[in-house]
Amino acid sequence: MEEKIISTKICVYSYNELSEADKILVENAKKASENAYAPYSKFHVGAAVRLSNGAIVAGANQENAAFPSGTCAERTAVYYAHATHPDATIEAIAIAASKDGEFQRKAVAPCGACRQALLEYEHLAGKPMRVVLYGADEVCVVEGIASLLPLCFAEF
Ligand code: THU
Repeated sequence: MEEKIISTKICVYSYNELSEADKILVENAKKASENAYAPYSKFHVGAAVRLSNGAIVAGANQENAAFPSGTCAERTAVYYAHATHPDATIEAIAIAASKDGEFQRKAVAPCGACRQALLEYEHLAGKPMRVVLYGADEVCVVEGIASLLPLCFAEF
């Protein structure tokens, strides 16, 4: 038997410590959360991706009375990004969420299904995607979706 340990490096920043590029992405994610359609959960999530061509594309969660038909902010953003910029790759994503008009204090991380979707766009890009998880008290940064999804499913 061989034991393998998979570890994840998470860099925890205060907002002011972020680079200008990350701050801009976070602000786009925060702004996008205003466009959430979340009458059921009241949890307003925004995601913004930075593309290799410099464009920033954002999305927000869109819920539906038939619950499983709703879509998370992250998938809204990456699907829209690839649908509108098919020749560009995704370099970074920022995520922010608010409830009752207040941004979450702890960093908000993508759900499992979104991690799987993000993994594929990371593969298309051929390099680790920077993930910036905004919280009002701390901002967590992870380099690479693979680190958020150990032992991931991948056919590629
Ligand atoms: N949600 C996201 O948009 N992203 C995530 O990674 C987790 C959850 C949305 C789905 C639903 O509209 C609401 O947040 C509550 O779960």
